[in-house]
Amino acid sequence: MITPVLLCGGSGTRLWPLSRKSFPKQFAQLVGDESLFQASARRFLGKGFGNPLVVTNDSFRFIVTEQLDEAGVEASGIVIEPDGRNTAPAAILAALKVQQDTPGGMLLLVPSDHAVANSAAFRKAVMAGAASAEEGNIVTFGIKATRPETGFGWLQSGAQTHEGVMKLERFIEKPNAERAVELLADPKYLWNAGVFLARADVLIDAFRTHAPDILAGVEAAMAGAVSDLDFTRLDETAWAGVPEESIDYAVMEKATNVSVVSFDEQWSDLGSWEAVWQESTKDKNGNARSENTTVFDCENTLLRSESSEIELVGIGLKNVVAVAMRDAVMVADLSESQNVKKAVETLKKRG
Ligand code: GDD
Ligand code: MG
Repeated sequence: MITPVLLCGGSGTRLWPLSRKSFPKQFAQLVGDESLFQASARRFLGKGFGNPLVVTNDSFRFIVTEQLDEAGVEASGIVIEPDGRNTAPAAILAALKVQQDTPGGMLLLVPSDHAVANSAAFRKAVMAGAASAEEGNIVTFGIKATRPETGFGWLQSGAQTHEGVMKLERFIEKPNAERAVELLADPKYLWNAGVFLARADVLIDAFRTHAPDILAGVEAAMAGAVSDLDFTRLDETAWAGVPEESIDYAVMEKATNVSVVSFDEQWSDLGSWEAVWQESTKDKNGNARSENTTVFDCENTLLRSESSEIELVGIGLKNVVAVAMRDAVMVADLSESQNVKKAVETLKKRG
């Protein structure tokens, strides 16, 4: 049985002002009529999958339980990190928990902030990787690269080992711009979807070999954990000593028992407002709008008002994103929307 592990403790700034520290993008309804977290939770229900395990941050525990209820998904547990230490600690604690609850079981680590239109196809890709995972590999999922993206990991695929599964020759996390251009030119390189499938004991062994300090720290935090209802709360003092690192750098770049399944359907990490616009339902002029917005003579725009008290009106706009919140309004050229992150950094400095 595969336990889906929903990683939802991160908080990015690329979709500011919607995505905030207190309410990151995974909990927002960005495309479709449920949040990205709810869509991720429902993506892996059914044959072969157990109830999902949620790994999140103390600040999001109520959002998580509310959204799971609303989506009709029952979690097998919710582990609360006292603060975010990036994905390596979150991944190993999930592996330790799955090993405790279902010895010999597999886990599927899933980011909770991606858009995948065809969930059945993704489940199929996961099942294709299961034979390789059963044999002791960590399975990654590769997306056909379409731009020299420096914010992703890149997977060099090798020879086929099982039907639909290839050996992974190399994992390169977040290359620089020059390297990314080279990788894009080589069709063997795919984008890493950030989803990993492995037997719990295999992942624990990989951490023991490549990141023993993270493993030891998380084991200590789990030894002192307390459970109340569905929540497992980690020991705060032990957790404070756990190194902050992503699983990609801590383990995936170093491990040799890795394979890759390519996923050829639509996938987006919704890493900018432009990406959100691309994935949204649009009118015949390319305008994507939320409630409380109106457009006149507009083309290729994304308008969102997050308050029923704010009516947002666009007139004669082209390639523009405008997001109105109660306390902030952001307007940008769609193609410049990746610079939102920079703007947020400047605002933070200003205090
Ligand atoms: N529980 C928990 N705790 N979850 C976390 C934490 C944490 O401290 N930090 C991040 N997450 C969650 C995020 O909410 C997200 O769903 C997922 O883990 C991935 O984290 P990101 O911070 O978004 O990673 P990334 O986008 O920089 O890179 C990863 O994803 C790319 C694809 O989107 C890597 O795996 C890349 O290689 C990959 O290409
Ligand atoms: Mg991400």
